[in-house]
Amino acid sequence: DWTMRTFKEEAIDKLRAQIGDGKVICGLSGGVDSAVAAVLLHEAIGNQLTCVFVDHGLLRRGEAKRVITMFRGHYNIPLVHVQAREQFLQALDGVTDPESKRKIIGKAFVELFEEEAKKIGGAEFLAQGTLYPDVIESVSATGGPSVTIKSHHNVGGLPERMNMKLVEPLRELFKDEVRALGRELGLPDVFVGRHPFPGPGLAIRCPGEITAEKLEILRYADEIYIEEIRRAGLYDDIWQAFAVLLPVKTVGVMGDGRTYDYVVALRAVTSTDGMTADFYPFDMKFLGHAATRIINEVKGVNRVVYDVTSKPPGTIEWE
Ligand code: XMP
Repeated sequence: DWTMRTFKEEAIDKLRAQIGDGKVICGLSGGVDSAVAAVLLHEAIGNQLTCVFVDHGLLRRGEAKRVITMFRGHYNIPLVHVQAREQFLQALDGVTDPESKRKIIGKAFVELFEEEAKKIGGAEFLAQGTLYPDVIESVSATGGPSVTIKSHHNVGGLPERMNMKLVEPLRELFKDEVRALGRELGLPDVFVGRHPFPGPGLAIRCPGEITAEKLEILRYADEIYIEEIRRAGLYDDIWQAFAVLLPVKTVGVMGDGRTYDYVVALRAVTSTDGMTADFYPFDMKFLGHAATRIINEVKGVNRVVYDVTSKPPGTIEWE
């Protein structure tokens, strides 16, 4: 891709000019954007870069292992794996307000990055895979100057006082361009094609109070749902699909018994940039099958619903 090759060369020059011989910490989220930012930075500044992968306990099943394996296996980029589940869960204990969750998570991330920066003898820069739509949506509602829809943790959710300067090499790009750049940088196709995953992770897919138990239920439901989407050959037709665990219990009947368990909502949308989206029109057979599997296999869930809201008026994530 000619455009992306040019973009890459220019971005590398700019990064070298901005960073000089400074050190950079880059947070990896497991998503495409931060991985592309990291590999681009590595080409630009080599071992001045240290990547930090924070396991905040809000990841999907198997995610930590996947990210670590890919980075340690394919790249020679120094990678620090921070285990911080307890810390994040404690900070989020009892918190139900969506913006509070985002701010708490953003703050905890930065504190961890600052600690890691100290450990490598001081890093002046923090790199993030912020995209153009993240910038816009953190700043305003479609065009309006003053309404924050959501504080994306890699933009507006960061604390105001931070010791490091931000490096955001993807700030002008849309998702499809980041994917093209990722391919240009040699990232594997399966990785580049993955659905977006938000920095605050499962915290914003668990409305209400977050507990370890709820997160575990959500992880199982989500894994089954995505597995069924892949099996049906629909993964690449969908921009993003995920399960949400509702803070609501309802009555059901299983065998001879009464159940009183959680509701899982399934979400799937098509989109080109995440700024607008349409709900995905699954056929009912698919939904029925996915719902049956989730209810049969995930303890604690006895009802599944499908979200048929487009964006606007809904957002893609529930919080
Ligand atoms: P919404 O829910 O605002 O999401 O319609 C639009 C896209 O952005 C992702 N998203 C985030 N990504 N940090 C991220 O890196 C965040 O805080 C964040 N919040 C939402 C969301 O998954 C969707 O792709």
